[in-house]
Amino acid sequence: MTGPDPVSLWHRLADTSVLLDGFHALKHAVRFGADVPVAVAVDRGAALALAEELAPDVRDTLDALLTQVPESTYASLVPRPHPTAVAALAVRPSRAAHLERLAHTPRTAPVVVLDNPRNLGNAGAVIRLAAGFGATGVVTTGTLDPWHPTVVRAGAGLHFATAVERLTVAELPPGPVFALDPEGDDIRGVKLPDDAVLAFGSERSGLSPELRARAGHLVALPMRPQVSSYNLATSVAMTLYHWSLGGS
Ligand SMILES: C[S@@+](CC[C@H](N)C(=O)[O-])C[C@H]1O[C@@H](n2cnc3c(N)ncnc32)[C@H](O)[C@@H]1O
Repeated sequence: MTGPDPVSLWHRLADTSVLLDGFHALKHAVRFGADVPVAVAVDRGAALALAEELAPDVRDTLDALLTQVPESTYASLVPRPHPTAVAALAVRPSRAAHLERLAHTPRTAPVVVLDNPRNLGNAGAVIRLAAGFGATGVVTTGTLDPWHPTVVRAGAGLHFATAVERLTVAELPPGPVFALDPEGDDIRGVKLPDDAVLAFGSERSGLSPELRARAGHLVALPMRPQVSSYNLATSVAMTLYHWSLGGS
């Protein structure tokens, strides 16, 4: 084992930190500037070999961060082992800084709003999409914690590449709200502006009445009759892709 005792550091920080579960989450978090006070691997050499192969840009940072621990120690630190047997804790970014970024205008890329999402995997997939498209942020309403470890795992650590916060509908960032709903106007005829707030309904019940009341536009994704709706994350993917094309 090298470096300061990572296990006691882990126990000291775990309750207030973001769990980075697996090599890819750690890689993305480091790449996008996360503060990572502790990182462990069952096979440090294998983790660094993976970094050399897949992420040479962060290899040296991981070399400095990773401490090798026995498999039983690793297993005691994480809720369920990841195939890469790598885990780390990151400092959760400041909510105040995120709120400032979300509220900042003029905006060069939309904010994605998930209105009362229920599925942790969907939320993570949406954060990954938002990171990929360079969205300003992802806001959730309702009770789901968008920083829940399962969401961070599904988001592959890309929470650090965008601004992720939970707000109420009344607190949504400024900007024209385009709410996605199968009853709306065909998106193929709609230009989504860079300052758009793109809102998506819950997997169970769609858009809430509060969100509908805030929406200036209802927009539909093309869908054959008799199909009720698309999955939430795939709806976000199509909408961000449409925004990225720029035209109507
Ligand atoms: C799984 S759907 C919600 C289905 C839900 N049972 C309902 O009553 O609307 C989740 C969200 O994805 C978006 N969505 C799904 N299919 C869509 C479509 N064809 N057009 C626009 N938005 C869609 C909407 O924002 C919707 O609220």
